[in-house]
Amino acid sequence: MSLLKNENNESLVLYERPGRGPITKTTFQRRSQKLQELSNGEVKVRVDYVSIDPTMRTWLNPGRSYIPPVQVGAVMRAAGIGRVVTSKADGFSEGDLVFGELGWQEYWQGSSKSVKRREIPQGGRDIDHLGLLGVSGLTAYFGLFDIGRLRDGDTVLISAAAGSVGLIATQIALAHLRCKVIAIAGSVEKCDLLKKLGCHEVLNHKERNFKNKLKQVGLIDVYFDNVGGEILDQVLTQLADHARIILCGSLTTYNSQSPYGLTNTPNLISSKASMTGFITFDYASRYPEARAYLSSLRNIGKLRYDYTVLYPVEGQNGLSRCVEALEQMFRGENLGKTWVGRFSPFLTNTEIQAEIQTRQNFSGRGSPTQLEEQIIIPGSE
Ligand SMILES: NC(=O)c1ccc[n+]([C@@H]2O[C@H](COP(=O)([O-])OP(=O)(O)OC[C@H]3O[C@@H](n4cnc5c(N)ncnc54)[C@H](OP(=O)(O)O)[C@@H]3O)[C@@H](O)[C@H]2O)c1
Repeated sequence: MSLLKNENNESLVLYERPGRGPITKTTFQRRSQKLQELSNGEVKVRVDYVSIDPTMRTWLNPGRSYIPPVQVGAVMRAAGIGRVVTSKADGFSEGDLVFGELGWQEYWQGSSKSVKRREIPQGGRDIDHLGLLGVSGLTAYFGLFDIGRLRDGDTVLISAAAGSVGLIATQIALAHLRCKVIAIAGSVEKCDLLKKLGCHEVLNHKERNFKNKLKQVGLIDVYFDNVGGEILDQVLTQLADHARIILCGSLTTYNSQSPYGLTNTPNLISSKASMTGFITFDYASRYPEARAYLSSLRNIGKLRYDYTVLYPVEGQNGLSRCVEALEQMFRGENLGKTWVGRFSPFLTNTEIQAEIQTRQNFSGRGSPTQLEEQIIIPGSE
């Protein structure tokens, strides 16, 4: 049976740049176009799952960034996984699982060089390519080890600690048995999870006395900063000598009307500390090393990973949930990695329920296993 169910490709395109502030009702627009015949060397891919990331908001702004902005009229950029439905390229056959920048659309078509074949990871799931073994896991790894120069015994603070990158960074730090790990999150459910994982202190940034509680934590050696803004500014007053601030993301500023002005940067001088930005793509040649580490951590039960998935309702496709999923992240409604599932073909409610059930059974939710095996830790003495 062919995997190609439609003749048309429905997508969400950038219709209007949102300016400062959150995306609006007119930021994206649906478009339907007839699917084209393939040229030699091309594949057609059914998009199954797309990753939703806070940084997508920054891609909508014009101007210079770490990658070019999405152009007005173009399909919204998104990493995704899918199955090959037709191939005119060597090495690709119908049914192959592929990963690439598939975008917010039902079908992706283009040169086979733009996508990578993937196998379902041993002991894992296809969607791990978008989370644990994808950019989130890689970012946590290179951020902590290369930028943070994590050492066992450090006091490590992590913001958005129950999010996609944060959940992995937190558990890598926890795997260093002499580290003191302090996690920041924005809900009771997330804080409870982080406590269960073994964090030494967990702070809810939505509580009124958050600032005081953060102050009481004392000096910090490594701060894994996912949010920027006010929290970063406060951490700058609590730096241990030679502290390292990992500037991973600044998501509190992505939707804000005006940039946040840090006031405490002079403390970097007196603490002889560093504050360093990084982009994970620069480490592409070392992805295998990071994936091997993350897999080993998971295999010994020291790395659980949650996914927040939004499925379409019956009769619709995944496009109906993309904008909502992105908005939810900024409200903190996600736990772990967020993705939207099942773009095409349209599923019945029964099929969607069956798929959700399968995924839940597989998600590893529950108490983390407490294994004591030693693992190889880059940078440890
Ligand atoms: N440098 C790189 O190469 C790279 C690569 C990937 C991602 N990133 C960055 O890493 C960061 C995390 O990305 P992610 O994909 O893992 O997202 P995420 O943490 O899964 O989702 C965002 C989380 O941020 C928290 N949040 C939202 N508003 C907040 C606020 N005002 N103050 C504190 N926390 C707030 C929310 O959790 P709470 O409920 O806990 O508030 C929300 O769940 C982002 O800044 C992203 O841009 C960087």
